[in-house]
Amino acid sequence: MKTSHTLALASLFALTLSAQAQNKTLQLDVSKPLKGAPVQNTMYGIFFEDINYAADGGLYAEMVKNRSFEFPQALMGWQTFGNIEVRTEGAPFERNPHYVRLSPANHRDKRTGLQNEGFFGISVQKEHKYRFSVWARVVDGTQSKIRIEISDPASMGENHALCGKTIDISGSDWKKYTLELSPAQSVSKAILRIFLKGATVDLEHVSLFPTDTWKGRENGLRTDLAQALYDLHPGVLRFPGGCIVEGTDLNSRYQWKNSVGQVENRPLNENRWHYTFEHRFYPDYYQSYGLGFYEFFLLSEDIGAEPLPIVSVGLACQFQNKDPKAHVEATREALDPYIQDVLDLIEFANGSADTKWGKLRADMGHPAPFNLKMVGIGNEQWDSLYPERLKFFVEAVRKAHPEIKIVGSSGPDSEGKQFDYLWPEMKKLGADLVDEHFYRPETWFLSQGNRYDTYDRKGPKVFAGEYACHGKGKKWNHFNASLLEAAFMTGLERNADIVHMATYAPLFAHVEGWQWRPDMIWFDNTRSVRTASYYVQQLYAHNKGTNVLRLTLNGKPLAGNDGQNGLFASAVYDATDGSYIVKIANTSDDAQNIDLSFVGLKKKQNIDTYTVTSLHADNPEAENTLDNTQVVVPKTVNKPSVGNKNVSLPLAAKTFYVFRFKAK
Ligand code: AHR
Repeated sequence: MKTSHTLALASLFALTLSAQAQNKTLQLDVSKPLKGAPVQNTMYGIFFEDINYAADGGLYAEMVKNRSFEFPQALMGWQTFGNIEVRTEGAPFERNPHYVRLSPANHRDKRTGLQNEGFFGISVQKEHKYRFSVWARVVDGTQSKIRIEISDPASMGENHALCGKTIDISGSDWKKYTLELSPAQSVSKAILRIFLKGATVDLEHVSLFPTDTWKGRENGLRTDLAQALYDLHPGVLRFPGGCIVEGTDLNSRYQWKNSVGQVENRPLNENRWHYTFEHRFYPDYYQSYGLGFYEFFLLSEDIGAEPLPIVSVGLACQFQNKDPKAHVEATREALDPYIQDVLDLIEFANGSADTKWGKLRADMGHPAPFNLKMVGIGNEQWDSLYPERLKFFVEAVRKAHPEIKIVGSSGPDSEGKQFDYLWPEMKKLGADLVDEHFYRPETWFLSQGNRYDTYDRKGPKVFAGEYACHGKGKKWNHFNASLLEAAFMTGLERNADIVHMATYAPLFAHVEGWQWRPDMIWFDNTRSVRTASYYVQQLYAHNKGTNVLRLTLNGKPLAGNDGQNGLFASAVYDATDGSYIVKIANTSDDAQNIDLSFVGLKKKQNIDTYTVTSLHADNPEAENTLDNTQVVVPKTVNKPSVGNKNVSLPLAAKTFYVFRFKAK
C-alpha cells in the first residue's frame, strides 16, 4: 500500500515536471500591426498630490517653512529672539497679511532676530548656491541692515555659520532684497538665521531656494525629483490631488485661483494630510501654493505630459462629511462659482492673452496656451450627490468648450455598490473617461488580469487614476508588489482600446514626513530613490508602443488564469521603430519556458536580434532605499539574431520582462 502510494506520487511529480518543462507556445499576431487598437500617448502617466510632503518640503524647492508667517500659529517653524512682533498693518500682500517687525534688543550684547528650521531641516551642499530673498522696509524710513546666515547649530566648530552676508535695507516702502549664499560645508539639517543689525525693520516672505532648480526657474522645483518625473516619460500629469481637491470641508478644498499669480500673494491653505491620520500627525503641514497651477502646467509641458487638472464638484470629502448639508446644494445657482472656476481654468490654460485669465497666464511668463485637453471634475465622490452636481458642470463645459474631455469618477472602490452605481451614471452624463481607484492586496492584483476584457466598448474610456498593490501585512515598496502591478498592467495594455490612462499613486513621499505608503519615489532633503514600482511604470511608459497586438495562449489572453501558472502577458507594436514589444510577468515561483511564435510575418521575414529587459529580486521583499538605490533595477541584455519566426524565452521565477523584437 505504502509502495504503491509512493509510486503514484512519483509519477504525478514526473508528470508535473514534464508539464512544466513542456514549452507553452504564445502566438503573437503581427499580420496587421497598424490595425491594432492605438495606445494613447496618455496611457502611462503620473498623479501628483501634496501628500507625504510632496509639494512644500518636496518637489517645490523652497527651503523656508511658513515663509509668510501665515500658519495659524504665525511663528510655527521659526524661533525668535529679542524684540519680535507679528503684525498685519500696512502688509504688502493682502492675501498674506502677516509679517514680522524686528526692533533693536536695546543692549550691546543682546540680539534680535529669528531662525527657520526648514522642512525637517535645511539641507545645503558645499559650495552650491542658494538664493535668499525677503521683502523688507525700515520702519522710520532711514537705513538698516540684516545679516543672513545659513548655520549648523549642531556644529562643533567655532562658528555656527556656514556662510553669511549682510543686506542694506532702506526706506519705508516694501522692497524685495535678494542675495546668494554659498555654504562652506554640506549639512543636512542646517537652519536659516536672520540678525537685525540696525534700526527697526519689517520683514515678509522670507525665502531660500537653491539656484540649481529644475530648468533654473526662480520659483522652481527640486532637480532630482523633477528629473525622476521626466525620466518616466509620463503621458499625463494628473494634479493637484486626490482628497486635497475635495478638502476636509469646502473651505479647505484646493482652489486653483489662489495658486496662481504673484507667489507672495498666494494665500496659505490647510493640508488635510496634516491631521487625517492621528497616528501619523504633522501639525506643520500646510499648502503654500508656491507650486500652483501655473507651475503644474509648466511641469506637464517640461516632461511631455498632457495636463489633467482635477477640480472640486462642490462636494467636500465624503468620508469626512456624511451630512449632505456640508456640501454645496445641488442647484445650478449654488454651484455657479464652482462651475465658473472650471470655465476660468480652461481660459487660464488655453485662452488668448486678451482674455482675463489668459492674460494672467501670459503675464506669468507663458503667452502661448498650455493646450489643455481635459479636466477631471470631482475626485472620489459617490452616491447621487455626485451625478446630480456633475450634470451642471458637464452641461456648462460642453456648451462653452465642446473640445474639452471630461473625466468623471467611479468613487473610491474598484468594485461594489458605489462603483456599480456610478459607472452607468457616468455613461448617462456622457463623461469621456471614468476615473477608477484601487489600492488593493496581492490577491486582488492576481485576480484582475481580465478586468477590462469585458468592459463595454461603447461607454466612457477608463482612467485607472490611482492604484498600487498594498501588500497584505507588507505595506511598503517591496519587489513583489511591483511585480503584481506589472502583471496587472498587462491587462491595461491589452485593453488599450478602452483604457486610455493609468497613473500609479501616490507619487512622492518624504521619509521623515509620510502619511501613506507605498509611494513611487521616496526622498529626504538631499537624496531620492526610485522604487521597484517606479521602474515598472517606467518600463511600461518607455515601451508603450503605438498599437495593441493580439497575444494568445491556446486562443486566450495570458492573464494569470487557471492553467496559466501565474503568467500575465501583453504585446504592442511600435510604429516609430517597427518593434514588436512583449511584456510578460511571471508571478509564479517556477521558472518557465515559453515559445513565442510570430504569426503573420512575411515569408522571408525572420526575427532579428532582440533585447530582454528584466526586473527581478531573489527576495520578493527586497526594496530600494535611500542608502541602497540599486537593489531592484531593470537590466537589459542584447540577444543574437534568431533567424526564424519562433523565439524560445526562458522565464525566471518572479520576474517581469520586456522583450523588444524586430523582424528582418
Ligand atoms: O493617494 C492618496 C489618496 O487616496 C488620494 O488623495 C485619494 O484620492 C485616495 O483615497
